[in-house]
Amino acid sequence: MRQPDYGVEGSTAIVTGASQGIGRAIAETLAASGADVAICSRSMDRVGPVADEINDADDAGDALAVECDVRDRERVENLVEETVDEFGGIDILVNNAGGEFVANFEDISPNGWETIVDLNLNSTVHCTQLAGEVMREGDGGSIINISSVNGQHAAPGESHYSASKAAIIRLTETLAVEWSDEDIRVNCVAPGLVQTPGVAETLGIQSDDMPPREKVDRRIGHGEEIADVVQFLASPAASFINGETVTAKGVPRAGNSMSQDLGLER
Ligand SMILES: NC(=O)c1ccc[n+]([C@@H]2O[C@H](COP(=O)([O-])OP(=O)(O)OC[C@H]3O[C@@H](n4cnc5c(N)ncnc54)[C@H](OP(=O)(O)O)[C@@H]3O)[C@@H](O)[C@H]2O)c1
Repeated sequence: MRQPDYGVEGSTAIVTGASQGIGRAIAETLAASGADVAICSRSMDRVGPVADEINDADDAGDALAVECDVRDRERVENLVEETVDEFGGIDILVNNAGGEFVANFEDISPNGWETIVDLNLNSTVHCTQLAGEVMREGDGGSIINISSVNGQHAAPGESHYSASKAAIIRLTETLAVEWSDEDIRVNCVAPGLVQTPGVAETLGIQSDDMPPREKVDRRIGHGEEIADVVQFLASPAASFINGETVTAKGVPRAGNSMSQDLGLER
């Protein structure tokens, strides 16, 4: 009997922003399924131990840690070069590194706006152009961009973040068409609120009493629930999915911004 192929074994993936949170869960999930993973963050002290843990586990895939600020194109060039030198190519790129701060639009300085657009959108452009070049010269691949439900709907207090995440969705759709002849699929995941250190820092939510992931409820998500969607999109099972945004937010909600979800409306 035929079974769907959710496998990524033997693939090489780059996962940006993998020292914690969703990126770390993605890296661990792909590695546990047999992919080699090149993982980056701004600090080797933070991302190195994640690679060590993956390499020390019985997981089938190997990990390479690279210090790389994804806003810096030269550092991204180095990330791509080190990945190809170590693993011989790139099959999967997960543009996960990202972040935000909460502020009303009129209070966001030009520097604050540029910082968030640089971190979320321009970094995705750098990584996608440079890793995409390797994929285009090779056998193609799968690119998965981490957007947000706040890129799909209005997000009061997060205009810079919301605009950058919405742009990622349109970029995804456009590239999926432009690169379809090169056997590169480009898709997006739009998570709802997921418990991570970044969310704890921005919104002050702790993870102490999180319900189990199997429970369908109005709850905060687990990083692994996003990682599983990423793995599906990267796998042969998603071969006919291109240019799409998969929303992963548990129960559909009336409100759509993190601050609304948390009753933090200002
Ligand atoms: N958590 C949520 O509720 C949620 C919802 C929707 C979408 N998302 C998106 O999911 C992604 C991950 O979110 P998260 O909550 O897991 O974030 P997080 O806990 O803040 O982790 C962010 C990761 O990105 C890395 N990073 C930050 N700036 C970087 C830079 N300039 N260059 C390279 N790495 C950088 C951080 O590592 P270092 O600090 O070590 O550099 C860290 O590993 C983001 O794109 C976020 O917008 C999250």
